[in-house]
Amino acid sequence: MPDSHAAVPVVAIDGPAASGKGTIARQVAAALGYHYLDSGSLYRLVAHQALATGTDPGDGEALAALARAMVVRFDGDAIRLDGADVTEALRAEAVSAAASRVAVHPAVRSALLERQRGFRRLPGLVADGRDMGTVVFPDAAPKVFVTASAEERARRRRRQLAETGIDVNIQSLLRDIRERDERDASRSAAPLRPAVDAVILDTTNMAVEAAVAAVLALIAPARR
Ligand code: C5P
Repeated sequence: MPDSHAAVPVVAIDGPAASGKGTIARQVAAALGYHYLDSGSLYRLVAHQALATGTDPGDGEALAALARAMVVRFDGDAIRLDGADVTEALRAEAVSAAASRVAVHPAVRSALLERQRGFRRLPGLVADGRDMGTVVFPDAAPKVFVTASAEERARRRRRQLAETGIDVNIQSLLRDIRERDERDASRSAAPLRPAVDAVILDTTNMAVEAAVAAVLALIAPARR
């Protein structure tokens, strides 16, 4: 990592699916005036490409080639892949499931590593994912691990989908969330787990505003 990068502060916000970390991370970034990295969207983009091209989800090298070739532009909240707006397509449950499958491959993870580090620019970065504090930005401070019970996360995902007009059975969401947790936590490359120096934030019974305030309180006053 170039020296200049070390001078750019990074706040790492990791945690399981639908824990609320994305909402919290975006609001923390806005409060600090920092850039924001939604690293999950990069894995979703690879999954989207794999589904579109019929690439074998077990072929790590072929998936890594897709990851390296993607021309991605983050335009506010919109995500463009090779010029096309794929923001909505990336949220589909099929893409979510495929993303956690492509993410098990070390070749895919290393193909995305420098792309993620490229988001580290002044005045600072809030990075959201699974391995921001453990692998991608090991010198991040603070590191926060956001979690919530699987049932609460399924309820949140259901509410989120309902807002976009999609009605999904809560039991099937709960099953998907548990399967994804299991796959993310048991993989050998960068498994989902808190960094040793992470602060655990359980948001099961916490409103978003309180969670954002809790993260901001961990940041040195001079940076807030
Ligand atoms: O955060 P999001 O649900 O969009 O991530 C989709 C999938 O991408 C996760 O289930 C996980 O398998 C993978 N992922 C990852 N490392 C990250 C971010 C996401 O492995 N830093």
